[in-house]
Amino acid sequence: MNNFEFQAPTKLIFGADTISKVKDEIPKDKKILMTYGGGSIRKNGVYKQVMEALSEHTVLEFGGIEPNPKFETLMQAVEIVKKENIDFLLSVGGGSTLDGTKFIAAAAKYEGDPWEILLNGGAKIKDAIPLGDIITLPATGSEMNNGAVISKLETKEKLAFHSNFIYPKFSIIDPKTTFSLPEKQTVNGIVDTFVHTMEQYATYDVNTPLQDEWMLGLIKTLMTEAKKVLHNPNDYEARANVFWCATCGLNYWMSLGCVQDWSTHMIGHELTALYGIDHGESLAVVLTRVWKNRKNDKMNKLAKMAVEVFGANDFLPKNILADITIKKTKKFFESLGRRTKLSDYGIDKIEAAKLISERFKERNCTLGEKSNITPDEVYKILMDC
Ligand code: NZQ
Ligand code: ZN
Repeated sequence: MNNFEFQAPTKLIFGADTISKVKDEIPKDKKILMTYGGGSIRKNGVYKQVMEALSEHTVLEFGGIEPNPKFETLMQAVEIVKKENIDFLLSVGGGSTLDGTKFIAAAAKYEGDPWEILLNGGAKIKDAIPLGDIITLPATGSEMNNGAVISKLETKEKLAFHSNFIYPKFSIIDPKTTFSLPEKQTVNGIVDTFVHTMEQYATYDVNTPLQDEWMLGLIKTLMTEAKKVLHNPNDYEARANVFWCATCGLNYWMSLGCVQDWSTHMIGHELTALYGIDHGESLAVVLTRVWKNRKNDKMNKLAKMAVEVFGANDFLPKNILADITIKKTKKFFESLGRRTKLSDYGIDKIEAAKLISERFKERNCTLGEKSNITPDEVYKILMDC
């Protein structure tokens, strides 16, 4: 097992009808900017619950944060934060609203051009406005991690940053808020959670049996509960279990001391930036193609997963077992109604392979747990999509 350090400072408040607890989490003397997306919180009653709970607080609003939150939009909120002396940010909505709010928190305190925050991955952040959230979409794990992903319209870029200054102070997770999710977003969240877990699990083995069991346990739970949620979107217990999978899927607890990959996400972000497909769609296309390309590097973990998750016979050769995991994972995505080819989304794979491998070449960037996915390999992976 590799050495690790871990501290997760976010207070979680999980369960039905917990939104009103927000009033006790933010001191009354704070001036709050409440951020949200395109209006789902007004339709499903979450907005009303929050405003009622905060009736004795000072609350300003900033709505309109898009899916794959845009730098250009977020900078408008940064202006408001500065002008109004906002000293607490409350994100109410999905991962995009929360990621956008994390960026606003850091950008409002950043000296220099805030896009630099993305160019240096968050390393130069020295301070941020404190933030909390009410998260309404199980997917990103943003409610319990220190990351955010921001897009720039002008240059069609989508980049991530991390900083301990942007951990939410608290996250309220009421699984009832997810009853109103369109099926497409429910599926996006299930795929994202699956792939987060795999980016941390499916690498090379450094003797982490407990972490491996946690991650495979999450996958088994997710697959079972996902079926229930899609069958009955108002199944509270299943919604709660899927949400908890999503939070645990990317709070990095499960993979402490493990080796991580993240190449599927890096390639997926480029597909979203260039073609606008959802994050969860891009991942369903790319994951199994990365696995095919790096099968030898990932053989042991993929083989173990075939036995433990997909019930394959462990007498089979590892090579065959790895193929079983690749095939069954693709089948699982398809069973959710998720399409797994670029052409399904109207994307020309030759163009995508060329553009994206060029981008990685320009950035001098190699991917994967062994840093051996070169731009030429990215080209091959996308040609297989
Ligand atoms: O904008 P509104 O009107 O709120 O509608 C949203 C949006 O249209 C809607 N929605 C959210 N909660 C809802 C709801 N509709 C009905 N009922 C609810 N309860 O769903 C749509 C998608 O929302 P979005 O926030 O974009 O989805 P998600 O949570 O999947 O976030 C995706 C973003 O997170 C990034 C992705 O790259 C993408 O930009 N990620 C963030 C990560 C992190 N911070 O650690 C890691 C992930 O790998 C990911 O990259
Ligand atoms: Zn993701």
